[in-house]
Amino acid sequence: MQNCDYNKPQMNAARKRTKTTTSVVDFAIPKSAMEIGIDKKYILLTYGCQGNESDSEKIRGLLETIGFSLASDETMADLIVLNTCAIRANAENKVFGELGRLKKYVKAKPDLIIAIGGCMPQEEIVVEKILKTYPQVKIIFGTHNLYQLPQFLERVMSNHNRVIEVLSEEGNIIEKLPTVRTSRSKAWVDIMYGCDEFCTYCIVPYTRGKERSRKPEYIIKEVQSLIDQGYHEVTLLGQNVNSYGLDFTEYRYRFSDLLQALSQLPIERIRFTTSHPKDFSTDLITVLAKQKNLMPAIHLPVQSGSDKILKAMNRKYTKADYMDLVDKIYQAIPDVSLTTDIIVGFPGETESDFLETIALVEYCRFEGAYTFVFSPRVGTPAAQFNDTVSIDEKMQRLYRLNDVINQGFARGNHRFVNQTLKVLVDGRSKGKADVLSGYSEHNKLVNFRGSKTLIGTIVNVKITDAKTWSLAGKLINE
Ligand code: 5AD
Ligand code: SF4
Repeated sequence: MQNCDYNKPQMNAARKRTKTTTSVVDFAIPKSAMEIGIDKKYILLTYGCQGNESDSEKIRGLLETIGFSLASDETMADLIVLNTCAIRANAENKVFGELGRLKKYVKAKPDLIIAIGGCMPQEEIVVEKILKTYPQVKIIFGTHNLYQLPQFLERVMSNHNRVIEVLSEEGNIIEKLPTVRTSRSKAWVDIMYGCDEFCTYCIVPYTRGKERSRKPEYIIKEVQSLIDQGYHEVTLLGQNVNSYGLDFTEYRYRFSDLLQALSQLPIERIRFTTSHPKDFSTDLITVLAKQKNLMPAIHLPVQSGSDKILKAMNRKYTKADYMDLVDKIYQAIPDVSLTTDIIVGFPGETESDFLETIALVEYCRFEGAYTFVFSPRVGTPAAQFNDTVSIDEKMQRLYRLNDVINQGFARGNHRFVNQTLKVLVDGRSKGKADVLSGYSEHNKLVNFRGSKTLIGTIVNVKITDAKTWSLAGKLINE
């Protein structure tokens, strides 16, 4: 049996919410870890949501600060980090499959360090499974202590013991983490961490801890610095951005105040995700309608159109509340593009509950949605609910829902034919060397012919054709 340094997660402790205020601490790498990655290479595999993508940019920042450089492929790597997602069983199964696949690299290179972080290690059962089945994993760390990865690497490199360091309490907000961003034109900006909603199906409040908002001055400074570096777009991130600031005790400062302040900065595009309908305030709608650089694309997860299911999900709003909110948003921002998240096959969902969801989708004129089959997560209340809907029925509902969603997707694209849209160019379109692709203000994927020198800039494209998933157009020279 290998030696281990233990600090395992406890879902019960993760459920607790204390009144203690969070402190802000500036990050510094311990001197002893400063050069441990020199001449070493890493690979980072990221799963899951934008929050994880943002965390991965920090992991890259930490690794490159201590000397690591990116490996061209896994055979060249001295370190492979998996930043994982726990939201549904299939997300986790992908990671377990990957751990199995990586075994051969450890065999070929016994010093190779495999580290697993992110949401999965916050679950007791996952840590037990890794300890039992995947001896090739050397470091297990969680969401609350990713900034300590350099120390964990230092420990493994010096004594070859396994490190298991997962905290169940969130601790402080760590500022000034080094970051290596993937894009040079659009950036993620965390505005808050954690979630206090406890939707009955969701593991996030356990894996990401208590809701903690970053202080506005840090966020504004970060966005200003991105502007100075030439960024055109920021996406503000939080599990529920609409409850931003509710944890501030010394002053009142809400998400609408933050957006108002950020919209005054010279940045072309501000987006945010994700919103909880119950906290989407009238003040917020007013600010969104007024400021040109707040993008007219809102992701507003509804989850279900049945009051019975919404209650069982602990969503804290009714179908009527949601419809009311959507009415208000359309009234204030008539051309807004609304998208959503929906779960089908929640325990107790009948055909008539499902039909209510379909009716709500049609009412709301969604132009896209992430749709899921309910996946029971151990430790969440819904995993204990009596679930009588067969998997076959759940899949049928998913397909039927997707048909309706896809019609909305196509309709949302068709409305832009013959219009000239501003497109932030991401890069070359997949598979076509001379075709560029990017996103419009309404977050529509646009393909058009143009020179690669346009990548990272905002250009005008006249839309000539709409497909279900994308728009095609012609570059307009100004
Ligand atoms: N099963 C299926 N979907 C889930 N989601 C969250 N938890 C589960 C689960 N247990 C979906 C919700 C959420 C999105 C990020 O993932 O729709 O909005
Ligand atoms: Fe999960 Fe609900 Fe929090 Fe979203 S708001 S992260 S669905 S608990």
